[in-house]
Amino acid sequence: MSLLIRNGRVIDPSQNIDKVCDIYIDKGKIDKISKKIKTPSGKNVKEIDAKNMIVCPGFVDVHVHLREPGYEYKETIKTGCMSAAAGGFTSIVCMPNTNPINDNASVTEYILLKARTEGIVNVFPIGAITREEKGEALADIGEMYEAGCVGISDDGVPVTNSNLMRRAMEYVKPFGIPLIIHAEDKYLSSDGVMNEGVVSTKLGLKGIPGASEEVMIARDIILSEITGAHIHICHVSTAGSVRLIRDAKKRGVKITAEAAPHHFTLTDEAVVDYNTNAKMNPPLRTQKDVKAIIKALKDDTIDAIATDHAPHSQDEKNVEFDLAPFGIVGLETALPLSLKLVEGGILSVSDMIKKLTIKPSEIVNIGRGTLKPGAIADVTIFDPEKEHEVCPEKFLSKGTNTPFSGWKLKGVVHKTIVSGKVVYSKN
Ligand code: DOR
Repeated sequence: MSLLIRNGRVIDPSQNIDKVCDIYIDKGKIDKISKKIKTPSGKNVKEIDAKNMIVCPGFVDVHVHLREPGYEYKETIKTGCMSAAAGGFTSIVCMPNTNPINDNASVTEYILLKARTEGIVNVFPIGAITREEKGEALADIGEMYEAGCVGISDDGVPVTNSNLMRRAMEYVKPFGIPLIIHAEDKYLSSDGVMNEGVVSTKLGLKGIPGASEEVMIARDIILSEITGAHIHICHVSTAGSVRLIRDAKKRGVKITAEAAPHHFTLTDEAVVDYNTNAKMNPPLRTQKDVKAIIKALKDDTIDAIATDHAPHSQDEKNVEFDLAPFGIVGLETALPLSLKLVEGGILSVSDMIKKLTIKPSEIVNIGRGTLKPGAIADVTIFDPEKEHEVCPEKFLSKGTNTPFSGWKLKGVVHKTIVSGKVVYSKN
């Protein structure tokens, strides 16, 4: 079946397109973008009316935790993909902290097989840097690359041994895939559970200083400079990190960065009632940090918006703040929270879309995030004005762990299309 999307405001930053027109999709590929496309005769064409909606490349999220294999009670590849589709994401990049950890080709192949058979969006795995993310010996990086990994990361358990990190950079450089860095010095963050500052002191909770993120970013910038490897900094949370990345970019270091919607929307004040759904790592920081992240999104120091979708079960989160796991879900709230930056006059809608499409696609080099004729037809249609209330119980993710429950936000995904097939439709 072919699709003809009519009358939408088509925004594709990869081609500098922003105009009301039609898109014709045939054989799973973008065929034509033009005004008033005639319905092709002799074909089975489904027409979609996108009047007053934005039609753009499908969103790409470079930071998702799918939990399968091993933690299917939190999320499966199937439910994670459904959640992604509901959020307008057509491609998701999944972190290796499963059980077993994705540190060899057989786990990568398992994820890809499951994604092909049960997933409704494109899944691109990230392999571990070290075996079992133990930080001791390099994982089977070459084999994982051959099997389809688009980057490597030890995610929440960063590599402490700087020499091993240097070797990992030297190893991956010829493959052209990034080292995806959750920057944290575990000695500095110690057993902290939220941002270190006035609020943590008031609440009597142990703090994680911004320095714990910043020293690791500084180290990895230096290592990237001597190896020439591409480093991608995950979930930037502090003004100091922004400064380091901005300076490194100016000096030509091969560095990219992402920010998560919670880090540009909330401060550590969200923790005041000991809400474990406001507990994540890196933690929510101060107003000064939020401002710096917003400025960095505006001046392209931060390239992409990524969710760090981290589902946990209610039982795991319904405990004392100290004991709850770090992480919140994000796929189904990313668009409306990003639209707040547009509403606030910080980003144009086109720049917001750029940070959700072509930019993240370029970071992991997956060739998505575009509506160029001939491209795979991954498309998102959304209503930027429609208001809704965030109801976690309605999420398609198994996780309901969000600090945004009850928030009234603008921006509703109308349809998500993967390879020319409608995989999500708002009823
Ligand atoms: O908040 C987080 N959740 N940070 C991490 O580093 C890991 C993630 C998870 O896997 O739950």
